[in-house]
Amino acid sequence: MESYETVINIWRKSGISIGSSDTKEELERMLQRNPTLFLIGKINKRIIGVVMGGSDGRRGYIHHLAIDPDYQRRGYGKMILDRLIEKFRQMGVHKVHLFIEKYNIDVVKFYQNLGWEIREDLIMMSHVPDDKLYKRNL
Ligand SMILES: CC(C)(COP(=O)(O)OP(=O)(O)OC[C@H]1O[C@@H](n2cnc3c(N)ncnc32)[C@H](O)[C@@H]1OP(=O)(O)O)[C@@H](O)C(=O)NCCC(=O)NCCS
Repeated sequence: MESYETVINIWRKSGISIGSSDTKEELERMLQRNPTLFLIGKINKRIIGVVMGGSDGRRGYIHHLAIDPDYQRRGYGKMILDRLIEKFRQMGVHKVHLFIEKYNIDVVKFYQNLGWEIREDLIMMSHVPDDKLYKRNL
């Protein structure tokens, strides 16, 4: 959590929108639930990448993978994602999902390159249990 501000900065710099689930309190809860799955990547002590993994006990989920734009296209995105997938494998997770917003369609190629498949057989649906809690952009 001591790296919270830096991580938020990398997310913002790389175009990831920060919502109500990304406050310090919410990320702390996420970290407590998934203590081994929140990874940061450093070069010479400088944080340049981040990814947040979660498991609900059945599936794994990947959220907010980002590499600082100054360090993209040098293999670090693949490196940190590989590390997270290995952790899911060690936990015995059978399948891992992630969601890509349609404005960000280009990133599909990055994942396909790494063996991910688009699911044509699924429709993603969402529900907000409490309007007072959820905000898409902070
Ligand atoms: C997606 C992201 C994490 C990739 O990180 P990166 O460090 O630039 O990617 P890498 O250098 O590890 O790329 C691995 C491979 O994917 C390719 N690749 C990377 N980004 C790509 C893109 N946008 N389109 C097509 N191919 C891409 C690379 O060329 C490389 O291929 P190679 O192994 O054949 O050389 C980074 O672009 C990013 O932070 N994007 C903004 C945030 C974002 O959209 N996150 C995903 C949310 S779902």
